[in-house]
Amino acid sequence: MDRAYTPKKLLARGGEVVAIDASEPMLELARKRLGPSVDVRRADLNEPLAFDDERFELVICPLVIHHVNDRAAVLREFFRVLRPGGNVVLSTQHPTTDWLRKGGSYFDVREEEDVWKRGDDSYTVRFWREPLTSLCAAVAEAGFLIERLVEPLPVETMRERWPEEWGKAPPRARLPPASPSQPAAA
Ligand SMILES: C[S@@+](CC[C@H](N)C(=O)[O-])C[C@H]1O[C@@H](n2cnc3c(N)ncnc32)[C@H](O)[C@@H]1O
Repeated sequence: MDRAYTPKKLLARGGEVVAIDASEPMLELARKRLGPSVDVRRADLNEPLAFDDERFELVICPLVIHHVNDRAAVLREFFRVLRPGGNVVLSTQHPTTDWLRKGGSYFDVREEEDVWKRGDDSYTVRFWREPLTSLCAAVAEAGFLIERLVEPLPVETMRERWPEEWGKAPPRARLPPASPSQPAAA
């Protein structure tokens, strides 16, 4: 994500920041990292948001929407709580990666399961896969115009840790130059 959109930078620009997540441990982590200047609250995106219409200028939703059952409903809620001219910055898992990992058709819309391992513990994580056609249609039907779609390239530090995957990325020299306002690859 564009680093200009970190909560600390938004606060430094004089913004009021409200952070939400459904998980108490994540909220605790956010409170520790962000301190008292950010209003951190529990909210489940499977439910309507408890915010007034046109309350915000910007919604940032990194890597969450694919965990939500009704993506179209969440996007409508984002539109409702944004002022006219407001923006959403959204990131999600790439549907091609989901397709390569889970099989079936790229166009499948269905709930999938991953098991994340950490030490001796393992966690089952559920998410929705859907093609860009379907997610982009939900974005447009909620009332938004898509200004930019960015597919980030691997960061430089990945070269050492996963050299094989790094080698598959196209040489940067062959890519079209980024426009000055384009976010750097995350
Ligand atoms: C991959 S993590 C991303 C966390 C964080 N946004 C970030 O970018 O570092 C997915 C997050 O989505 C949250 N989440 C999943 N389902 C949710 C829901 N229905 N409502 C709100 N948050 C949800 C999880 O609790 C988890 O914190």
